[in-house]
Amino acid sequence: TGCFTYDPGFTSTASCESKITYIDGDKGILLYRGYPIDELAEHTTFLETAYLLLYGELPTKVQYDAFKLRITRHTMLHEQMNRFFSGFRRDAHPMAIMVGVVGALSAFYHDSIDIRDPWQREMASIRMIAKMPTIAAMAYKYSIGQPFVYPKNELDYSANFMRMCFAVPCEEYEIDPVLTRAMRRIFILHADHEQNASTSTVRLAGSSGANPFACISAGIACLWGPAHGGANEAALMMLEEIGSVSRIEEYVRRAKDKDDPFRLMGFGHRVYKNYDPRAKIMQKTCHEVLAAVGHQDDPILKVAMELEKIALSDEYFIEKKLYPNIDFYSGITLKALASPPTCFTVLFALARTVGWIAQWKEMIEDPSQRIGRPRQLYTGATERAFVPMDDRH
Ligand code: CMC
Repeated sequence: TGCFTYDPGFTSTASCESKITYIDGDKGILLYRGYPIDELAEHTTFLETAYLLLYGELPTKVQYDAFKLRITRHTMLHEQMNRFFSGFRRDAHPMAIMVGVVGALSAFYHDSIDIRDPWQREMASIRMIAKMPTIAAMAYKYSIGQPFVYPKNELDYSANFMRMCFAVPCEEYEIDPVLTRAMRRIFILHADHEQNASTSTVRLAGSSGANPFACISAGIACLWGPAHGGANEAALMMLEEIGSVSRIEEYVRRAKDKDDPFRLMGFGHRVYKNYDPRAKIMQKTCHEVLAAVGHQDDPILKVAMELEKIALSDEYFIEKKLYPNIDFYSGITLKALASPPTCFTVLFALARTVGWIAQWKEMIEDPSQRIGRPRQLYTGATERAFVPMDDRH
């Protein structure tokens, strides 16, 4: 009963109004608050883009310095949270740790969970953006059995994160400008992407009035899936499994076979029916990083480039408009940046936190906001008489 539009996968349902991110999937355009993604990736710092997404305008120098100061004041984690990590197995997936630790922030920061209070909402936003790199780096350090490295606030956001991941006690850590720039670009490219699955999850969780830390934790859980944020890890594994250019044809054949569930990871997108604009920047960044670390002859890069060439000239991929997405080159790049594959999605979560918060704030501050409550087309049994257990067959 009822008159509902059936739209599995929400391919034609707008769930909200938003002023944050614009995508034209047919033309391959992505804008944050009206600014093209390639210009932001080239010319802004991550915190500048974060400010833009959160507050709607690029910051002046004074606004930027004040925002940076607010963020860096909150980069440390409550010391008691450090012990939280040791409750996990060392071989736990870092995304499992992220879901738990980020959700637990609501047990520590009681002055940032009353969503009716604008000051508390602001505190929650700042805290989350500030603490995410620390939490992500700690999840990584814990997994490799090394001591945590505390934030160094005079460094830029990306450099500070890389130092927390890769510095070791008793050794100088040198900041590499090419690798730091790559990490900054990766963060900016992943910062927001309108109503994707994890962002919609954050909005839906937030629509009930749940606290922001719990909402972001729900977003992280959703992002973990291989069809979403987990695709970069899956794409790299696929490229490694293919291993050499001579085996590409076999995998392309499998991807086209209707009876084979195999898909080319890092290909296709729900919205982009053209080259993903983020993938273009990622491809360029990938070449820069591999050259900087002396891996320009990496056989995996050769496989990726050849696979892209073959797929883009294949009728199946042309007809279905399947182009490389951001995850196709980000796995290779992150591996060259020394990130283990299990941490790829963690980096995605760190960057997307800004978008999740901007979208959550926009929703909470919208006076027409109501609890998200999709309906369904019921296809089960009609009403029937109860049967006692002894009479059931
Ligand atoms: N390889 C082979 N065939 C594919 C692929 C692929 N990667 N992606 C889609 N198709 C085919 C699919 O089999 C279907 O064919 P048919 O119409 O004959 O049944 C058609 O293209 C449409 O696919 P769909 O699954 O209905 O499309 P969707 O919009 O629901 O899914 C997607 C989008 C990204 C989940 C899908 O393309 C996919 O699984 N790609 C691989 C995973 C991946 O790279 N995900 C990262 C997405 S970008 C980062 C992010 O936003 O998180």
